[in-house]
Amino acid sequence: MNDGPIGVFDSGLGGLTVLQALADLLPAEDLVYFGDTARYPYGDRRADELRRFSDQIADLLVDEGAKMLVVACNSATAAALTHLRERLAIPVIGVVEPGLRAAAKASRSRRTVVIGTRMTARSRIYEDTAERLKLDLQLEVLACPGFVELVEEGRTDTPEAVEVVHDRLAPLLTARTDTLVLGCTHYPLLSRAIGEVVGRHVTLVSSADETAFEVRDLLERMGWLRAADRPGRRVFITSGRADRFAELGRRFLGHRLHEVRAHAWETSEEAKRGAGQRAVGAS
Ligand code: DGL
Repeated sequence: MNDGPIGVFDSGLGGLTVLQALADLLPAEDLVYFGDTARYPYGDRRADELRRFSDQIADLLVDEGAKMLVVACNSATAAALTHLRERLAIPVIGVVEPGLRAAAKASRSRRTVVIGTRMTARSRIYEDTAERLKLDLQLEVLACPGFVELVEEGRTDTPEAVEVVHDRLAPLLTARTDTLVLGCTHYPLLSRAIGEVVGRHVTLVSSADETAFEVRDLLERMGWLRAADRPGRRVFITSGRADRFAELGRRFLGHRLHEVRAHAWETSEEAKRGAGQRAVGAS
């Protein structure tokens, strides 16, 4: 039996959508979440950078005692999932396969649009994974620059959010598209704006629930599921400002985050990037 927490990470707040699904399905599990707010957006970074960041975060979560790791970020899944699986002694789950499985269940026309970051779109991970899993889906994968910033800056429910989403998505959906995969874990936090733009005939699919089921199955197989004798502990760590993370986290999760800590990356390069991002976030 391994009684440690489940480690979950993302570039910032987006992975909270996955954390929420885990907390709903597995209320007794301890969860430790890392949001790399000081270094978002991940979607505009190089793959080798994301592998390095993922290594740093994985090491930190392993130090926290994590019994398994959920890469709650499509961009990091694209760049680093295979690498993390080779490197770590604990099981690692990403969000792309679960998202595609959910889409395959939801789509009738089989015409599915996936939206994600530039990194995710460029990596072709959705096309490659659909082929490997032999999913009968006609995929079109599109990058949506600017969406992540709306979330990290707390501007999800604004007319501006609808405008940004409209400009990007309206021209892209054909009449036969019936499923839209939110291939970035930040995007479910924009579902109001996205739903308004794409209309009711398009089903929005997020990877969160399917990922949580995959985690549960894995823990069950390993015999690592916690007995439901007490509610799980939730710990949040951010490389940005803890107060800001707590405030936006409360807004997105709908309840107070009791334990939020800041973790500053140590190298001067990272500190410099962090300062830049925090200045943007605070403006
Ligand atoms: N939430 C992440 C994803 O799923 C990363 C977004 C970003 O930082 O660009 O791709």
